[in-house]
Amino acid sequence: MNAQNSSHGDGPLVLGIETSCDETGVGIVRGTTLLSNTIASSMEEHARYGGVVPEVAARAHLEALTPTLRTAVADAGIDLADVDAIAVTSGPGLSGALMVGVGAAKALALSLRKPLYAVNHLVGHVGADVLDAAGGPGHPVEVPTVALLVSGGHTSLLLVRDLVSDVELLGETIDDAAGEAFDKVARVLGLPYPGGPQIDRVAADGDPRAIRFPRGLTKPKDLERHRYDFSFSGLKTAVARWVEQRQDAGEEVPVADVAASFREAVADVLITKALAACLDHGVPRLLLGGGVVANARVRQLAVQRAAEAGVTLRIPALSLCTDNGAMIAALGAQLIMAGRAPSRLDFGADSTLPVTDIQVAAL
Ligand code: KG4
Ligand code: ZN
Repeated sequence: MNAQNSSHGDGPLVLGIETSCDETGVGIVRGTTLLSNTIASSMEEHARYGGVVPEVAARAHLEALTPTLRTAVADAGIDLADVDAIAVTSGPGLSGALMVGVGAAKALALSLRKPLYAVNHLVGHVGADVLDAAGGPGHPVEVPTVALLVSGGHTSLLLVRDLVSDVELLGETIDDAAGEAFDKVARVLGLPYPGGPQIDRVAADGDPRAIRFPRGLTKPKDLERHRYDFSFSGLKTAVARWVEQRQDAGEEVPVADVAASFREAVADVLITKALAACLDHGVPRLLLGGGVVANARVRQLAVQRAAEAGVTLRIPALSLCTDNGAMIAALGAQLIMAGRAPSRLDFGADSTLPVTDIQVAAL
Protein backbone atom coordinates (compact mmCIF):
# COMPACT_ATOMS: atom_id res chain seq x y z
CA MET A 1 0.00 0.00 0.00
CA ASN A 2 1.34 3.46 -0.78
CA ALA A 3 0.18 7.04 -1.11
CA GLN A 4 -0.92 6.47 -4.71
CA ASN A 5 -2.92 3.41 -3.78
CA SER A 6 -5.65 5.48 -2.25
CA SER A 7 -8.18 2.91 -1.12
CA HIS A 8 -7.88 4.74 2.22
CA GLY A 9 -7.67 8.26 0.80
CA ASP A 10 -4.63 10.42 0.16
CA GLY A 11 -1.80 11.83 2.17
CA PRO A 12 1.17 10.52 4.09
CA LEU A 13 0.92 7.31 6.12
CA VAL A 14 1.88 8.34 9.65
CA LEU A 15 2.18 6.32 12.84
CA GLY A 16 1.69 8.33 16.04
CA ILE A 17 2.82 7.46 19.55
CA GLU A 18 1.32 9.06 22.67
CA THR A 19 2.51 8.35 26.23
CA SER A 20 2.13 11.67 28.06
CA CYS A 21 -0.10 10.42 30.87
CA ASP A 22 -1.70 7.05 31.61
CA GLU A 23 -2.77 6.03 28.10
CA THR A 24 -0.36 4.24 25.81
CA GLY A 25 -1.70 5.24 22.41
CA VAL A 26 -0.59 4.19 18.96
CA GLY A 27 -2.58 5.44 16.00
CA ILE A 28 -2.13 5.28 12.26
CA VAL A 29 -3.55 7.74 9.76
CA ARG A 30 -3.26 8.39 6.06
CA GLY A 31 -3.57 12.13 5.70
CA THR A 32 -6.85 12.90 7.42
CA THR A 33 -8.12 9.32 7.30
CA LEU A 34 -8.04 7.27 10.48
CA LEU A 35 -6.75 3.72 9.93
CA SER A 36 -6.30 2.58 13.52
CA ASN A 37 -6.40 3.93 17.06
CA THR A 38 -5.16 1.51 19.70
CA ILE A 39 -5.03 2.37 23.38
CA ALA A 40 -3.81 0.57 26.47
CA SER A 41 -4.61 2.33 29.73
CA SER A 42 -2.94 1.91 33.10
CA MET A 43 -5.91 3.60 34.80
CA GLU A 44 -6.77 0.56 36.91
CA GLU A 45 -3.28 0.47 38.37
CA HIS A 46 -3.75 4.04 39.63
CA ALA A 47 -7.19 3.44 41.11
CA ARG A 48 -6.04 2.65 44.63
CA TYR A 49 -4.00 5.86 44.74
CA GLY A 50 -6.91 8.00 43.52
CA GLY A 51 -4.81 9.63 40.79
CA VAL A 52 -2.13 8.90 38.21
CA VAL A 53 1.18 7.84 39.79
CA PRO A 54 3.95 8.92 37.36
CA GLU A 55 6.32 5.99 38.00
CA VAL A 56 3.53 3.46 37.65
CA ALA A 57 2.41 5.10 34.40
CA ALA A 58 5.95 5.05 32.95
CA ARG A 59 6.46 1.39 33.71
CA ALA A 60 3.05 0.54 32.28
CA HIS A 61 3.96 2.36 29.04
CA LEU A 62 7.10 0.25 28.76
CA GLU A 63 5.09 -2.92 29.05
CA ALA A 64 2.25 -1.80 26.80
CA LEU A 65 4.08 -0.11 23.98
CA THR A 66 5.13 -3.07 21.85
CA PRO A 67 1.80 -4.93 22.02
CA THR A 68 -0.11 -1.68 21.37
CA LEU A 69 2.10 -0.96 18.37
CA ARG A 70 1.55 -4.46 16.97
CA THR A 71 -2.22 -4.18 17.34
CA ALA A 72 -2.32 -0.74 15.73
CA VAL A 73 -0.33 -1.97 12.72
CA ALA A 74 -2.51 -5.09 12.38
CA ASP A 75 -5.75 -3.08 12.72
CA ALA A 76 -4.62 -0.64 10.05
CA GLY A 77 -3.76 -3.50 7.71
CA ILE A 78 -0.42 -2.00 6.81
CA ASP A 79 3.20 -3.04 6.86
CA LEU A 80 5.30 -1.08 9.31
CA ALA A 81 7.85 -0.63 6.52
CA ASP A 82 5.27 1.31 4.49
CA VAL A 83 4.81 4.20 6.92
CA ASP A 84 6.05 7.53 5.61
CA ALA A 85 6.80 9.00 9.02
CA ILE A 86 6.56 8.54 12.77
CA ALA A 87 5.07 11.20 15.07
CA VAL A 88 5.42 11.29 18.83
CA THR A 89 4.32 13.44 21.77
CA SER A 90 7.33 15.32 23.11
CA GLY A 91 5.32 17.16 25.79
CA PRO A 92 3.67 18.48 27.86
CA GLY A 93 3.00 15.60 30.24
CA LEU A 94 4.69 13.38 32.80
CA SER A 95 8.45 13.23 32.12
CA GLY A 96 9.01 9.54 32.73
CA ALA A 97 5.92 8.62 30.74
CA LEU A 98 6.86 10.88 27.82
CA MET A 99 10.38 9.44 27.75
CA VAL A 100 9.07 5.96 26.99
CA GLY A 101 7.22 7.15 23.89
CA VAL A 102 10.04 9.41 22.75
CA GLY A 103 12.58 6.58 23.09
CA ALA A 104 10.38 4.14 21.24
CA ALA A 105 9.66 6.61 18.44
CA LYS A 106 13.34 7.36 17.93
CA ALA A 107 14.20 3.66 17.83
CA LEU A 108 11.42 3.03 15.33
CA ALA A 109 12.36 5.97 13.14
CA LEU A 110 16.02 4.96 13.10
CA SER A 111 15.44 1.29 12.44
CA LEU A 112 12.85 1.95 9.71
CA ARG A 113 14.86 4.93 8.37
CA LYS A 114 11.78 7.16 8.48
CA PRO A 115 11.45 10.83 9.39
CA LEU A 116 10.30 11.63 12.92
CA TYR A 117 7.99 14.48 13.96
CA ALA A 118 8.07 15.41 17.66
CA VAL A 119 4.85 17.25 18.46
CA ASN A 120 2.87 19.01 21.16
CA HIS A 121 0.27 16.96 23.01
CA LEU A 122 -2.23 19.82 23.41
CA VAL A 123 -2.07 20.77 19.74
CA GLY A 124 -2.52 17.04 19.05
CA HIS A 125 -5.92 17.24 20.79
CA VAL A 126 -6.88 19.95 18.28
CA GLY A 127 -5.42 17.87 15.43
CA ALA A 128 -7.82 15.05 16.33
CA ASP A 129 -10.56 17.13 14.74
CA VAL A 130 -9.25 16.40 11.22
CA LEU A 131 -10.17 12.72 11.69
CA ASP A 132 -13.47 10.94 11.29
CA ALA A 133 -13.72 8.25 13.98
CA ALA A 134 -15.70 6.03 11.62
CA GLY A 135 -12.72 5.92 9.25
CA GLY A 136 -14.26 8.10 6.57
CA PRO A 137 -12.30 10.91 4.92
CA GLY A 138 -11.56 13.67 7.40
CA HIS A 139 -11.29 17.38 6.76
CA PRO A 140 -8.99 20.22 7.82
CA VAL A 141 -9.57 21.92 11.16
CA GLU A 142 -11.62 25.03 10.47
CA VAL A 143 -9.72 28.05 11.72
CA PRO A 144 -9.60 30.28 13.57
CA THR A 145 -11.05 28.29 16.42
CA VAL A 146 -10.94 28.41 20.18
CA ALA A 147 -10.14 25.00 21.71
CA LEU A 148 -11.08 23.99 25.24
CA LEU A 149 -9.02 20.98 26.35
CA VAL A 150 -10.12 19.40 29.60
CA SER A 151 -8.76 16.19 31.05
CA GLY A 152 -7.23 14.78 34.21
CA GLY A 153 -3.93 16.40 33.30
CA HIS A 154 -4.84 19.69 31.68
CA THR A 155 -7.43 22.43 31.41
CA SER A 156 -6.37 24.79 28.67
CA LEU A 157 -8.00 27.34 26.44
CA LEU A 158 -6.23 27.83 23.11
CA LEU A 159 -6.71 30.18 20.20
CA VAL A 160 -5.80 28.27 17.06
CA ARG A 161 -5.29 30.51 14.04
CA ASP A 162 -3.46 27.79 12.13
CA LEU A 163 -2.99 24.22 13.33
CA VAL A 164 0.62 23.91 12.19
CA SER A 165 1.89 27.43 12.68
CA ASP A 166 -0.13 29.62 15.00
CA VAL A 167 -1.48 28.41 18.33
CA GLU A 168 -1.78 30.73 21.32
CA LEU A 169 -2.43 29.82 24.96
CA LEU A 170 -5.25 32.06 26.21
CA GLY A 171 -5.46 30.51 29.66
CA GLU A 172 -5.15 27.37 31.74
CA THR A 173 -5.78 26.08 35.22
CA ILE A 174 -3.72 27.70 37.94
CA ASP A 175 -4.14 24.67 40.21
CA ASP A 176 -6.03 21.42 39.59
CA ALA A 177 -7.13 20.19 36.18
CA ALA A 178 -10.91 19.82 35.79
CA GLY A 179 -10.69 16.02 35.59
CA GLU A 180 -8.54 15.99 38.69
CA ALA A 181 -11.25 17.96 40.51
CA PHE A 182 -13.82 15.35 39.45
CA ASP A 183 -11.54 12.60 40.73
CA LYS A 184 -10.93 14.32 44.09
CA VAL A 185 -14.56 15.23 44.70
CA ALA A 186 -15.59 11.68 43.84
CA ARG A 187 -13.24 10.51 46.56
CA VAL A 188 -14.86 12.89 49.06
CA LEU A 189 -18.22 11.40 48.10
CA GLY A 190 -16.91 7.84 48.48
CA LEU A 191 -17.09 7.11 44.75
CA PRO A 192 -14.35 5.09 42.98
CA TYR A 193 -11.62 6.33 40.62
CA PRO A 194 -11.78 7.69 37.97
CA GLY A 195 -14.35 9.99 39.48
CA GLY A 196 -15.63 11.82 36.41
CA PRO A 197 -17.89 9.09 35.06
CA GLN A 198 -19.10 8.27 38.60
CA ILE A 199 -20.07 11.86 39.39
CA ASP A 200 -21.75 12.14 36.02
CA ARG A 201 -23.78 9.02 36.80
CA VAL A 202 -24.98 10.01 40.27
CA ALA A 203 -25.50 13.67 39.27
CA ALA A 204 -28.18 12.59 36.82
CA ASP A 205 -30.56 12.12 39.80
CA GLY A 206 -29.53 15.28 41.63
CA ASP A 207 -30.58 18.93 41.61
CA PRO A 208 -27.83 21.16 40.12
CA ARG A 209 -29.27 24.16 41.99
CA ALA A 210 -29.36 22.47 45.39
CA ILE A 211 -26.03 24.00 46.49
CA ARG A 212 -24.35 27.04 45.00
CA PHE A 213 -20.68 26.05 44.82
CA PRO A 214 -18.09 28.70 43.88
CA ARG A 215 -17.08 29.36 40.27
CA GLY A 216 -13.32 29.86 40.38
CA LEU A 217 -11.75 33.02 38.89
CA THR A 218 -15.02 34.57 37.80
CA LYS A 219 -15.17 37.59 40.14
CA PRO A 220 -14.59 40.96 38.42
CA LYS A 221 -11.17 41.40 40.08
CA ASP A 222 -10.11 37.88 39.01
CA LEU A 223 -11.31 38.45 35.47
CA GLU A 224 -8.84 41.31 35.03
CA ARG A 225 -5.82 39.03 35.30
CA HIS A 226 -7.34 35.59 34.82
CA ARG A 227 -10.10 36.06 32.28
CA TYR A 228 -9.32 32.75 30.56
CA ASP A 229 -7.68 30.92 33.46
CA PHE A 230 -9.35 28.31 35.60
CA SER A 231 -9.14 27.30 39.27
CA PHE A 232 -10.79 24.23 40.71
CA SER A 233 -9.01 23.81 44.00
CA GLY A 234 -11.30 26.24 45.87
CA LEU A 235 -14.33 24.43 44.50
CA LYS A 236 -12.95 21.07 45.59
CA THR A 237 -12.33 22.43 49.10
CA ALA A 238 -15.81 23.97 49.22
CA VAL A 239 -17.38 20.63 48.38
CA ALA A 240 -15.23 18.83 50.97
CA ARG A 241 -16.19 21.39 53.67
CA TRP A 242 -19.87 21.16 52.81
CA VAL A 243 -19.81 17.38 53.03
CA GLU A 244 -17.78 17.43 56.28
CA GLN A 245 -20.22 19.82 57.95
CA ARG A 246 -23.11 17.53 57.11
CA GLN A 247 -21.24 14.51 58.40
CA ASP A 248 -20.18 16.31 61.60
CA ALA A 249 -23.80 17.25 62.22
CA GLY A 250 -24.72 13.58 61.85
CA GLU A 251 -26.81 14.33 58.77
CA GLU A 252 -26.97 12.26 55.63
CA VAL A 253 -25.02 13.63 52.66
CA PRO A 254 -27.28 14.12 49.63
CA VAL A 255 -24.71 12.65 47.25
CA ALA A 256 -26.72 13.17 44.06
CA ASP A 257 -27.36 16.85 44.83
CA VAL A 258 -23.72 17.48 45.76
CA ALA A 259 -22.53 15.75 42.58
CA ALA A 260 -25.01 17.62 40.40
CA SER A 261 -24.18 21.00 41.98
CA PHE A 262 -20.44 20.39 41.68
CA ARG A 263 -20.76 19.24 38.07
CA GLU A 264 -22.84 22.33 37.31
CA ALA A 265 -20.15 24.62 38.75
CA VAL A 266 -17.41 22.99 36.64
CA ALA A 267 -19.45 22.91 33.44
CA ASP A 268 -20.63 26.48 33.93
CA VAL A 269 -17.18 27.93 34.39
CA LEU A 270 -15.63 25.91 31.55
CA ILE A 271 -18.24 26.85 28.98
CA THR A 272 -18.63 30.46 30.15
CA LYS A 273 -14.89 31.12 29.78
CA ALA A 274 -14.58 29.25 26.48
CA LEU A 275 -17.43 31.20 24.91
CA ALA A 276 -16.09 34.48 26.31
CA ALA A 277 -12.83 33.69 24.51
CA CYS A 278 -14.75 33.11 21.26
CA LEU A 279 -16.70 36.34 21.56
CA ASP A 280 -13.74 38.48 22.71
CA HIS A 281 -11.63 37.30 19.76
CA GLY A 282 -14.42 37.33 17.20
CA VAL A 283 -13.95 33.59 16.65
CA PRO A 284 -17.22 31.82 15.78
CA ARG A 285 -15.94 28.30 16.51
CA LEU A 286 -15.30 26.23 19.61
CA LEU A 287 -13.62 22.83 19.64
CA LEU A 288 -13.68 20.56 22.68
CA GLY A 289 -11.10 17.90 23.61
CA GLY A 290 -9.95 15.78 26.56
CA GLY A 291 -11.63 13.12 28.69
CA VAL A 292 -13.90 15.53 30.59
CA VAL A 293 -15.72 16.15 27.30
CA ALA A 294 -17.48 12.85 28.11
CA ASN A 295 -19.34 14.75 30.82
CA ALA A 296 -23.03 14.92 29.99
CA ARG A 297 -23.57 18.38 31.50
CA VAL A 298 -20.43 19.85 29.93
CA ARG A 299 -21.67 18.69 26.52
CA GLN A 300 -25.23 19.84 27.12
CA LEU A 301 -24.22 23.32 28.30
CA ALA A 302 -21.73 23.63 25.43
CA VAL A 303 -24.37 22.76 22.84
CA GLN A 304 -26.97 25.08 24.35
CA ARG A 305 -24.78 28.11 25.02
CA ALA A 306 -22.79 27.84 21.78
CA ALA A 307 -26.05 27.89 19.83
CA GLU A 308 -27.23 30.94 21.79
CA ALA A 309 -23.92 32.70 21.09
CA GLY A 310 -23.90 31.81 17.39
CA VAL A 311 -20.73 29.76 17.84
CA THR A 312 -20.25 26.54 15.88
CA LEU A 313 -19.36 23.73 18.24
CA ARG A 314 -17.18 20.79 17.31
CA ILE A 315 -16.84 17.76 19.55
CA PRO A 316 -14.78 14.92 18.07
CA ALA A 317 -15.82 11.34 18.90
CA LEU A 318 -14.89 10.48 22.48
CA SER A 319 -12.29 7.93 21.31
CA LEU A 320 -10.48 10.87 19.70
CA CYS A 321 -11.07 13.28 22.64
CA THR A 322 -9.32 11.15 25.26
CA ASP A 323 -5.55 10.77 24.95
CA ASN A 324 -4.70 8.71 21.87
CA GLY A 325 -2.00 8.13 19.28
CA ALA A 326 -4.19 8.88 16.26
CA MET A 327 -4.36 12.58 17.13
CA ILE A 328 -0.56 12.68 17.26
CA ALA A 329 -0.34 10.90 13.90
CA ALA A 330 -2.93 13.33 12.49
CA LEU A 331 -0.91 16.35 13.60
CA GLY A 332 2.24 14.76 12.15
CA ALA A 333 0.45 14.27 8.83
CA GLN A 334 -0.71 17.90 8.85
CA LEU A 335 2.88 19.05 9.38
CA ILE A 336 4.09 16.87 6.51
CA MET A 337 1.32 18.09 4.20
CA ALA A 338 2.30 21.67 5.11
CA GLY A 339 5.83 20.86 3.90
CA ARG A 340 7.50 20.89 7.32
CA ALA A 341 10.88 19.24 7.79
CA PRO A 342 11.07 16.46 10.40
CA SER A 343 12.53 16.87 13.87
CA ARG A 344 16.20 16.32 14.68
CA LEU A 345 16.81 13.25 16.80
CA ASP A 346 18.30 15.23 19.68
CA PHE A 347 14.98 16.35 21.16
CA GLY A 348 13.80 14.98 24.48
CA ALA A 349 10.69 14.72 26.57
CA ASP A 350 9.61 18.19 27.69
CA SER A 351 7.07 18.05 30.51
CA THR A 352 6.29 21.78 30.23
CA LEU A 353 6.39 22.23 26.46
CA PRO A 354 4.47 25.44 25.62
CA VAL A 355 1.61 25.23 23.08
CA THR A 356 3.41 27.67 20.82
CA ASP A 357 5.91 24.84 20.16
CA ILE A 358 3.64 22.85 17.86
CA GLN A 359 6.59 20.81 16.62
CA VAL A 360 9.96 20.62 18.37
CA ALA A 361 13.50 20.39 16.97
CA ALA A 362 12.49 20.96 13.35
CA LEU A 363 15.44 20.41 11.03
O1 KG4 B 1 -8.30 12.63 28.57
P1 KG4 B 1 -8.28 11.63 29.64
O2 KG4 B 1 -8.76 10.25 29.32
O3 KG4 B 1 -6.79 11.49 30.12
C1 KG4 B 1 -6.06 11.91 31.13
O4 KG4 B 1 -6.27 12.97 31.72
O5 KG4 B 1 -5.15 11.12 31.37
O6 KG4 B 1 -9.11 12.20 30.87
C2 KG4 B 1 -9.35 11.48 32.03
C3 KG4 B 1 -10.06 12.40 32.99
C4 KG4 B 1 -10.22 11.82 34.38
O7 KG4 B 1 -9.89 12.80 35.33
C5 KG4 B 1 -11.71 11.48 34.45
O8 KG4 B 1 -12.27 11.56 35.73
C6 KG4 B 1 -12.29 12.54 33.54
O9 KG4 B 1 -11.36 12.70 32.48
N1 KG4 B 1 -13.58 12.12 33.00
C7 KG4 B 1 -14.73 12.76 33.26
C8 KG4 B 1 -15.75 12.00 32.66
N2 KG4 B 1 -15.19 10.93 32.05
C9 KG4 B 1 -13.86 11.02 32.26
N3 KG4 B 1 -14.97 13.87 33.95
C10 KG4 B 1 -16.24 14.28 34.05
N4 KG4 B 1 -17.27 13.60 33.52
C11 KG4 B 1 -17.08 12.47 32.82
N5 KG4 B 1 -18.12 11.81 32.30
ZN1 ZN C 1 -4.53 15.03 26.86
